[in-house]
Amino acid sequence: MQMIFILKDGTEKTVDFEEGQTILQVAEQNGIPLHSNCEGFGICGGCHVIIENLGDKLPEISDTENDGLDKAKNVTLKSRLACQVVLSMNLNGLRVKLV
Ligand code: FES
Repeated sequence: MQMIFILKDGTEKTVDFEEGQTILQVAEQNGIPLHSNCEGFGICGGCHVIIENLGDKLPEISDTENDGLDKAKNVTLKSRLACQVVLSMNLNGLRVKLV
């Protein structure tokens, strides 16, 4: 399965992912620059991304993720924390924009 990261300069990078990985893990595996100051515990808000499509197929936002998002900047209705979104098979083609 594949997903697309949209970097800050607008460049798109298509990468492979496996079910059960988080967006952050996929980013780190592929050299995508995402901040993870809390190492994926959903606390720092640094891994904030914008989900461009398939938002209705994402797992629901947990209380932990909600609290972490409070610390992120420029949050929108499509904002998520990359470390808290676990990828599933029906997210093939997911587009994730770095903030
Ligand atoms: S890595 Fe800190 S909130 Fe995701």
